[in-house]
Amino acid sequence: MAKRAKSAAKASAKKTPAKKAAAKAKILKPAASLKVAPGELQTLLDLVRYGVSRFVEADVAFAHGTTDPVAEAAFLVCEALHLHPDQFEMFAHARVTAQEAAKILALFDRRVTTRKPAAYLVNKIYMRGLPFYVDERTIVPRSFIGELLDSHLSGAMEEEGGSLIDNPGSITRVLDLCTGSGCLAILASHSFPNATVDAVDISADALAVAARNVEDYGLEDRVSLYQGDLFDAIGDERYDLIITNPPYVDAEGMAGLPRECLHEPQIAFDGGDDGLDLVRRILDGARDHLTPDGGLLCEIGRGIDVLTDAYPNLPLLWLDTEDSEGEVFWVTAEAL
Ligand SMILES: C[S@@+](CC[C@H](N)C(=O)[O-])C[C@H]1O[C@@H](n2cnc3c(N)ncnc32)[C@H](O)[C@@H]1O
Repeated sequence: MAKRAKSAAKASAKKTPAKKAAAKAKILKPAASLKVAPGELQTLLDLVRYGVSRFVEADVAFAHGTTDPVAEAAFLVCEALHLHPDQFEMFAHARVTAQEAAKILALFDRRVTTRKPAAYLVNKIYMRGLPFYVDERTIVPRSFIGELLDSHLSGAMEEEGGSLIDNPGSITRVLDLCTGSGCLAILASHSFPNATVDAVDISADALAVAARNVEDYGLEDRVSLYQGDLFDAIGDERYDLIITNPPYVDAEGMAGLPRECLHEPQIAFDGGDDGLDLVRRILDGARDHLTPDGGLLCEIGRGIDVLTDAYPNLPLLWLDTEDSEGEVFWVTAEAL
């Protein structure tokens, strides 16, 4: 029986004329990368320049961890060469082998032809310099909250009076609502070394990716994942800190999402008509899940006017980051 199976496999592996023609067609399939003759692009910098030209020519969108074509091309070059993005400068003028160049050009080609975010092509994204696994089961992480964990929540700005949490060591329980890939929960576990972190998402697919990241960082003892609809997933639990980057794209935004975002789960974007359906539910429910000295940090995109109109008496503190203005607010349990 085993012998028969083996010979059947051998027969199917044999190249028929049809298979030969298909293989030839595959080799000859035109690709953007074939515009480049071997040896024309020699260094990492040459390849980045080429990538930038292709991306601009094809009008690709940059909204997934990079904000411009140079950073996007450099990210793909580094990933293909197993380099951390911070190592790009060191090797910018180093030459690549023909095989490496082909790998990079193929990635550029896939980026332009499929419009998939670069992070999905290489199954990786960096947040605050740390690598996270990512695939199409979850949104590509790019929350401004990563930066705020390092600035306003880390005690680093205490002297300037900008710290929202004076002593990160005093935080023992954190909730990451709408965790997606789990990246913010993992970053929070680093920012608050004495805390356990609960992370909630409604999507089992996203949680499977989060579980992989939690395992990669060896944080199974400190980061727990729960599936459910916002606070429903955690019963009566209370936390010193709630962080959340919920879906917040309004109907107009949903209708105009760039092609890249159509590869991502739409449940990660859709915030209803004005984008704030989930934000309202989070604001209304947070008081019952915060400790008396606790606070909520929430990203909301461009809904600042709608939200301040809806909650005129709530003292929301708007926090800016390097790439955002008025897209994340902080509110204390006391104010809620
Ligand atoms: C904008 S993504 C943020 C993911 C991650 N926190 C990040 O910053 O990359 C929003 C996430 O909320 C999840 N989600 C949507 N509706 C939800 C709900 N009702 N309850 C819990 N999670 C929800 C989506 O599955 C998605 O993973």
